[in-house]
Amino acid sequence: MDDVLSRAEGLARHSDSPDHYTRTWLTPAHQAASRQLQAWMREAGMEVRVDAVGSVIGRYESSGSDPKREVRGLTPAPRIMLGSHFDSVRNGGKYDGVLGILVPIACVAELHKRGERLPYAIEIAAFSDEEGARFQTSFLASRAMLEGAEAMNSLLERRDADGVSVAEAMRAAGLDPVRVDEARIDTKSLAAYVEVHIEQGPVLLDAGRPLGVVTSIASGSRHLARVRGEAGHAGTVPMGMRRDALAAAAEMVLAVESQAKAAGGVGTVGILTVADGTGNVIPGTVEFTIDLRGPDDATRARLVAAVVGELEAIAARRKVAVEVGKRHDVKAAPCAPWLQDQLEASVRRAGCDPMRLPSGAGHDAMIMAEATDVGMLFVRCGAGGVSHNPAETVTAEDVQVAEHALLDFLRNFVVPA
Ligand code: HGY
Ligand code: MN
Ligand code: MN
Repeated sequence: MDDVLSRAEGLARHSDSPDHYTRTWLTPAHQAASRQLQAWMREAGMEVRVDAVGSVIGRYESSGSDPKREVRGLTPAPRIMLGSHFDSVRNGGKYDGVLGILVPIACVAELHKRGERLPYAIEIAAFSDEEGARFQTSFLASRAMLEGAEAMNSLLERRDADGVSVAEAMRAAGLDPVRVDEARIDTKSLAAYVEVHIEQGPVLLDAGRPLGVVTSIASGSRHLARVRGEAGHAGTVPMGMRRDALAAAAEMVLAVESQAKAAGGVGTVGILTVADGTGNVIPGTVEFTIDLRGPDDATRARLVAAVVGELEAIAARRKVAVEVGKRHDVKAAPCAPWLQDQLEASVRRAGCDPMRLPSGAGHDAMIMAEATDVGMLFVRCGAGGVSHNPAETVTAEDVQVAEHALLDFLRNFVVPA
C-alpha cells in the first residue's frame, strides 16, 4: 500500500506559514494541497472533481457501474462515501483530517492495483474547510455538500484577518460565490459515510488499542461575545470609576471554565481581541470566541444557558454591556449501530481488539449524519494523545492496521435490508 505517513509529511509542507503547519481555506498552500490530493486520487484510479467550495471528490466506480443509468433515468448505483478535511487549525498536527483522506486513497489504490471493483462505488471527499480557521466558519464544506448555497448564508461578506472577504477569497481561487449551490450532492444513493480520524485524545493510547470504533460525536456550538465598556486614560481614571471591558472579559473567561466544569461539558475561549488595544488606554471593546460542547444536546443547551446567564451577571455588576452571538451549532451525532458492528468486525479481522468510544471532537461526519448513516474509525494518537498541536502523531504500524481494517470493511460492506 502507499505510504500514508510520508504523504502526510509531504502534504504538511503546503502550509500558509513557513514556520509551522497551518493550512486554511483557499490560500495558495491550500490550493497546492488540493492539486496534490487530486493527483493521488487519479493515481489510485479515481475520477476526480473539485466542487463549488473547493472540496476534492474522487470516485471509484462499482463493479456494476453503468454511467448511462442516470441518463436513462434509472437510480444511480449506490455509493459509500469516505472522507475528512484537508484544512487545519493554526499550528496544528499533520494528521487531523488528512489521515481520513490518505487512508481511503491507499485502500482504493490497492483495489485499483488488483483490478478489483466492489458492488458499491466508493467516493472519497477531501473537505476543503472544516476547522474554519480563516473565516471562523466550521464544517463549511460538508454543509455546502448537503445544503448548497444555504451553507453560505450571511458568510460571503465575512472577512479574514487581512480584510479579504469570503467572496473575494473564492474568486481569487477560481471559485464562483454565486454557484455554491452546485456543491450540493445527491444523497439518495448514498449508502453511508465513514470517516477515519486520529483520535485526538489519550483513550486508545491508555487502553493499548490501535483502533477504536466511534459510538457518537459530541454536540457543540461556537459563539462570539462582544463586551463594551468605556475606553479611557490609563493614568487618570480612578480604579473605582472604570468600565474596563478587558477586566470584565477576563472574569467572563473564567466563568466559561467554571460553568463547563459544573455542567459536565467543555468550554474554551480560543481567541480574545482588544479593539484598538494600546498599553496606556483602558480597553473599551473586547471580543472573544466561546466554544461549548457536551456529550448530548441537552447538556450542551444547559451549558450555553448557564454561560450566557453568568456573562450577563458579570456585565451588570461591572456596568459593561455584553452580547453573545451564535456562530454555529451542531447536534450530537450517533454513529449507526450497523456501521459500528461492521467496523468492529473489520478491526478484529485486522488483528486488533476493538474498543468503542465516543468522540469529543467535531467531525464532518456530524454534518453528513443529517443525510445518511455515519460511522467513524479512530486511530490511536501518540504523544500522550495531544492534537491541535504540532506534537500530534501516529505510528506507521497503527496506520497500516487502519488501512487493513478499512479495506476489509469496504470488501465486506453490506447495507442491512
Ligand atoms: O473543533 C473540532 O472539534 C474539530 O477539530 N474541528
Ligand atoms: Mn481539528
Ligand atoms: Mn479533524
